[in-house]
Amino acid sequence: MIQIRNLSKSFGDKQILSNINLDIHLGETLCIIGKSGCGKSVLLKHIVGLLQPDSGYVSMDDSKISALDQKQLFNVRKCIGYVFQGAALFDSYNVFENTVLKLLESGEKDYTKLANDAKFVLSAVGLLPEDINSSEFEKEWTILANKKPSELSGGMKKRVGVARALIGSPDYIFYDEPTTGLDPVTSQQIDDLIANLANQLKVTSIIITHDMFSVYNIADKVAMLHDGNLHFYGSIPEIKNSNDDVVREFIERYQ
Ligand SMILES: Nc1ncnc2c1ncn2[C@@H]1O[C@H](COP(=O)(O)OP(=O)(O)OP(=O)(O)O)[C@@H](O)[C@H]1O
Ligand SMILES: [Mg+2]
Repeated sequence: MIQIRNLSKSFGDKQILSNINLDIHLGETLCIIGKSGCGKSVLLKHIVGLLQPDSGYVSMDDSKISALDQKQLFNVRKCIGYVFQGAALFDSYNVFENTVLKLLESGEKDYTKLANDAKFVLSAVGLLPEDINSSEFEKEWTILANKKPSELSGGMKKRVGVARALIGSPDYIFYDEPTTGLDPVTSQQIDDLIANLANQLKVTSIIITHDMFSVYNIADKVAMLHDGNLHFYGSIPEIKNSNDDVVREFIERYQ
């Protein structure tokens, strides 16, 4: 479980987050919404320890993230998959290398294990076919594994980003705008993928999104940031029925 308590963060004299309190329960899918620049990515970066709070804290399974040293943080991050805003694949690495980056960083050198793990997650995100014989599969795998990000479509890059986050069976997976820039059909496929992973692998998921269709498709709970505050927190029926002006403006504009 993730607990965010009285979290505040400023950059210079600009207060980005003020006194945020939020719980994310195990197995839950939380969508974070809010206008561009309201601090969604900043909040997520606190959860993974990429940013330090000015005050307050984030705890994950009872570890206080900001109090961890590098080694402890490294261990906590093993339980987390992070799909960065804009996929953020390394252009000079091929799909295989991009996918197994986390394992390479933790010192894994066994090629067979790396390849098997990559095949598993790339199949899970639908980039490798599941119903073909093994020699056909190996052919498809070799072609995909050797592709560079520049040879992939936007939707495929996002899938590789999700596959990379899935490596090592994380308990938590965080997506920063996984469908931004995709057409509606591909967005729906990525939403379905996120929902399937949450259901099948029982991962606890946080998704930052502007896309209210995605929210309605996948969220158990919705949190809205506005003017540095947690302006709304609730279920999908609750947000749909909200009479709050800020909430209404947001959900009507993005529908
Ligand atoms: N490392 C940093 N140093 C200084 N300012 C930062 C830093 N990171 C973010 N900011 C500022 O904090 C504010 C919130 O940024 P953030 O990236 O969290 O927005 P966001 O809600 O994710 O927006 P978007 O929907 O456009 O991705 C912005 O004004 C941004 O310029
Ligand atoms: Mg952002």
